[in-house]
Amino acid sequence: MDNSIVQGFSRYNKQQRIDALIKKYGFQADIASLLATFENNNSTIQKLIDDLSENPISCFPFPFSLAPNFVVNGKNLFFPLVSEESSVVAALGNAAGFWAKRGGFHAEVLGTEKKGQVHFCWNGNPEYLQSLFPEIRSKLLDDSAFLTRKMEERGGGIIQIELKALPHILPNYYQLDAGFETCDAMGANFINSCLEQFGKSLQEYFLTSEKVSTSQRECEIIMAILSNYTPESHVRAWVECPVVDLIDGKSEAKCFQFARKFEQAIRISQADVSRAVTHNKGIFNGIDALAVATGNDFRAIEACGHAFSARSGSYSGLTDVLIHDGKFRFSIELALAVGVVGGVTAVHPLAKLAMQILDNPSAKELMMFLAVAGLASNFGAVKALVSVGIQQGHMKMHLSNILNQLNIPEERRAEIQIYFQDKTVSFSAVEEYWKSFG
Ligand code: MEV
Repeated sequence: MDNSIVQGFSRYNKQQRIDALIKKYGFQADIASLLATFENNNSTIQKLIDDLSENPISCFPFPFSLAPNFVVNGKNLFFPLVSEESSVVAALGNAAGFWAKRGGFHAEVLGTEKKGQVHFCWNGNPEYLQSLFPEIRSKLLDDSAFLTRKMEERGGGIIQIELKALPHILPNYYQLDAGFETCDAMGANFINSCLEQFGKSLQEYFLTSEKVSTSQRECEIIMAILSNYTPESHVRAWVECPVVDLIDGKSEAKCFQFARKFEQAIRISQADVSRAVTHNKGIFNGIDALAVATGNDFRAIEACGHAFSARSGSYSGLTDVLIHDGKFRFSIELALAVGVVGGVTAVHPLAKLAMQILDNPSAKELMMFLAVAGLASNFGAVKALVSVGIQQGHMKMHLSNILNQLNIPEERRAEIQIYFQDKTVSFSAVEEYWKSFG
């Protein structure tokens, strides 16, 4: 491998980047045609995709899938999903179909406030600064009016700004902790622009106010940035049905046994961190697939969700179950910030289509759909875990990946699938069986 340091890589054109790759790793030149295979034939679309990132050499396709029968607050939708994990879409479709026959999913938004902070140091008395803060707050709001006007016209803007003295974290350390309403936008640019303006206004105040002594005019802005933790932007989704309706065609006793095991699984996820992380991972299987399809920042959504799940002080599963009066109620409460205007959602042709498939939801509706995807995904996982186990479904899907890896001809696949219906699927077992055909 060529270990030389590359200069100015971002100024290379695509061909130069591919050439550099081939040279560095000593790849065969046919790598270039492999990469070209995944380029879009339509050059306008390809440019649009290339412009989403830096240094592209091709596209990296994932399946764009549909899960039907999502009934949410009475509306029946297909959910558009992007996931590379084969069982995720199947599990979502199954859970959606199951609950569609039992009243569907219910959801409500409990708040939409987003957050951001200016972190700064100032060498002065916290109580005195607190006494100046009403005046400072007015200046911050006045100076950022040019940024907030449009958002206010849409019903959003700055909701509150709080001053926090936090000397136990760093000497002379303070925060401006601000809340924002960004309506249908994710709002990252709006929030960050406001926060950077707050930082400038704060410095100007310290420099010019006669209420600040000359030895305390310096205010060091450490950073100004939104917080991806938005506990006040949160949503709840739930499903419910009589316990006796939980398993089609099974006795009342079997249904209650299933409900009890399901509840045990949820209680374990709420108390045991090792289980909670996997439990929540399964929830994000659904949430991320819908977030990616709609062009939303799934890293932000995940980071927020995990912090929210630790809001009591210990990391816990995000879902809850209540069995009461013969009824089974399964719910999720989740904090997340999403947008339906701007960003990738407005640019990526398939993200735009995903929004159409969802009937062009508002940000609040999309929050509910994401919570529903998480709940559905978790229902599918826990239902399988406490009954037949997860491997049966996983391996069925995994088998098709193995058949692809082994390049098994299409016309031979059905017999292999039938053979493995009641057997444990593994790469070596499938390979061995295929070889035995001769
Ligand atoms: C696999 O992607 C997700 C599960 O492990 C989730 C869970 O255990 O709840 C099945």
